[in-house]
Amino acid sequence: NGKYNNIIFDKKDNGVVLITLNRPKALNALNQELCTELGDAITNIEKDETVRATVITGSEKAFAAGADIKEMSSMSFMDVYKSGLFGPLEVIPRARKPIIAAVNGYALGGGCELAMMCDFIIAGDKAKFGQPEIKLGTIPGIGGTQRLTRAIGKARAMELTLTGDNMEAEEARQSGLVSRIVPSEQLVEEALKTAQKIASYSSPIVQLAKECVNKSFETTLTEGLNLERRIFQSTFATSDQKEGMSAFSEKRKASFKDE
Ligand code: CAA
Repeated sequence: NGKYNNIIFDKKDNGVVLITLNRPKALNALNQELCTELGDAITNIEKDETVRATVITGSEKAFAAGADIKEMSSMSFMDVYKSGLFGPLEVIPRARKPIIAAVNGYALGGGCELAMMCDFIIAGDKAKFGQPEIKLGTIPGIGGTQRLTRAIGKARAMELTLTGDNMEAEEARQSGLVSRIVPSEQLVEEALKTAQKIASYSSPIVQLAKECVNKSFETTLTEGLNLERRIFQSTFATSDQKEGMSAFSEKRKASFKDE
């Protein structure tokens, strides 16, 4: 817990971890140290059997205002290339356990991209999303051109990427970038409640469900349906499926054992 300088790692006793990005003076700009710490935190969560779901949040003013412009500004191509800038964040989209982004305030550039690396985004009503890199003479570099386009469609993603304009929370919800909007002061509590609900289910089954939804972005419909059918069938080899269905018939709460 005490080993991080740029994030706060708060492991609750219900299988949920709350990670708070914590560079308030820089609006949580993603410097290399923060990215390394976040990657390390998620790697540890993946290994920790007592953790079942994670929420990543920022502050009321900013989830994250992008990659750290001051740190990047004088870097050469070779500096950026050799450092594998932002590489540590790749463990987020590859994680098997669910990760929810709870976004208040600005989620710009790398901040928007970090939120989109998570499994879904819950936004505060004053959240703002955008890819303003074009104004800096560069382009999104942590997946913005790909994930935003898949999330909201080509026309609007292209307009946002080429103009650098922001999108308000309500539009982000209507266009499918965020799953829902809540009043900003309730955001973290709501995200934690959602994480807690997910954490109450069988963790391996949750991971299989997540894998199937993610596969829909990577494959044809027929292949995706085949994978889903096989994984659905395979859940019948688990005791958690037996427990879940027996509990329903016996009108009691299921007690999952991750088996
Ligand atoms: N990097 C470094 N520092 C940043 C930052 C960033 N991305 N965003 C904000 N800060 C710093 C500001 O420099 C300022 O620091 P000082 O007090 O030392 O001057 C502090 O955070 C507070 O910011 P502002 O005074 O600018 O706050 P504001 O309320 O007036 O404006 C804002 C808020 C509109 C978000 C504005 O800060 C802003 O435009 N930030 C930059 C957004 C941006 O361009 N993001 C994309 C970064 S590039 C990227 O992300 C590349 C990629 O895809 C990988």
